[in-house]
Amino acid sequence: MQADQVLIRSSTRWFLVVLVLGIWLRTAFVWIYNPAPFAWGSLIHAHSHTAYFGWAGLGLMGLVLYVLPSLTGRPLAAPRPMKWLLALSPWAVGGALVTFALWGYAAPSIAFSAVNEVVWFCFAYVFWQNVRGRAVRDWPAALWLIGVGVVMLLVSTLSTVLILLTRVVFETSSPVLYNSGVYLFLQAYGDGWMEVAMMGVVGAFVGGLPCRGLARLQALLMLTLMVPASLRLLMPYGLAGSLTAVGVTAGIGLSLAQVLYLVQVAPLVRRMPAVVKPWWLLAGGALAVKAVLEWLPLAPGWMEMALERNLVIAFLHLKLLALVTAAMIGALAYVGDLGRGFRLFAVGTVTMVGALAAHGSFVATTPALSRPLYVVAFVAGVIAAVGAAGAVWPVAFGAEDPAVVRRPPGAPVHR
Ligand code: HEM
Repeated sequence: MQADQVLIRSSTRWFLVVLVLGIWLRTAFVWIYNPAPFAWGSLIHAHSHTAYFGWAGLGLMGLVLYVLPSLTGRPLAAPRPMKWLLALSPWAVGGALVTFALWGYAAPSIAFSAVNEVVWFCFAYVFWQNVRGRAVRDWPAALWLIGVGVVMLLVSTLSTVLILLTRVVFETSSPVLYNSGVYLFLQAYGDGWMEVAMMGVVGAFVGGLPCRGLARLQALLMLTLMVPASLRLLMPYGLAGSLTAVGVTAGIGLSLAQVLYLVQVAPLVRRMPAVVKPWWLLAGGALAVKAVLEWLPLAPGWMEMALERNLVIAFLHLKLLALVTAAMIGALAYVGDLGRGFRLFAVGTVTMVGALAAHGSFVATTPALSRPLYVVAFVAGVIAAVGAAGAVWPVAFGAEDPAVVRRPPGAPVHR
């Protein structure tokens, strides 16, 4: 099996683990019980890290490798770190899953997180070897976005340095410094790597982004604003002064960049094969909602919203499930056979996000709504997970080395 397929297949298997953990976690809000020998907090970390490292991380790497030859015009180069990447990744993700589940944030889970970072550096090197030798200005527009995503993947590793510096070296108790590493990671990895690289992958699959000027502006905005945008997330922890203005303005710039992307891909919708289209329309809708929500830091009461757990979880799943996951599942249709499940996934995801957002907005004033909304979120989560599992199952467990089953006009033709 080729490297891209190995990564994609293993990412879909980790995704199934993520889904099971997600549903298990949702039960905690409906029935009160103790998941011994685990702690709920540790299971949340196991769920989110397996989702980031295993599902989105490895899956995106596989998809990028899959589309690269169509963007570079050369067969995929596989320098030595490609081997290390493939050999390390199951241990990196599996180790993080087990250690986070057992001990939460502790020395073993931090060590396995570091192994994941080694995997990312290997991937960045492989990417670099494939694109070097051609001036960046001549890259296809989709490759710019993927390139920005890879830079952000590397930037996200700086968060570990920040966390170690603030917690171990300076031993600071300042909540702003304490959270700066965490939010740098969430912004650079979640919005930078996962979202921007996925935009490039979609662009490659639809045969390229038509307007180079808009794509260049979008890529530049995302490259320069991603890190400063993480500053606005520190406002609820006490960041004040001119840096907050920088953070809020950067976030609004990112909103503009997201709109620029939607404007570019909207005319390409009719080129999307029928099996892919609903997934990418859902992802596009989620991106449009996200672009609006980027303005929220300007709203009165935003600080309280940003600290409300269910609103945060709703926003995270809008971005990670309705946007990135839907876009990735759609892309899997190019790589292997996609199973059925879109409707369940869409209804479940939208309802779960809506129920959590409603919980965060109304339960403080109407406590009686709490349990019904948690029940809705649980049932919706199960429905979403069943749909997602049904869709990715054939990619995860189907016949090895499946032939490319659907390739629309303008899609990669390297196989
Ligand atoms: C149907 C699928 C899913 C369900 C039912 C689900 C459920 C959950 C639940 C119950 C929580 C904890 C909520 C809380 O503590 O209030 C959570 C947290 C989280 N989930 Fe999911 N999830 C799903 C899919 C995903 C996916 C695909 C990703 C990423 C690609 C993801 C990323 C996260 C993150 C980052 C957190 C927050 C962790 C933290 O605060 O430390 N989830 N999820």
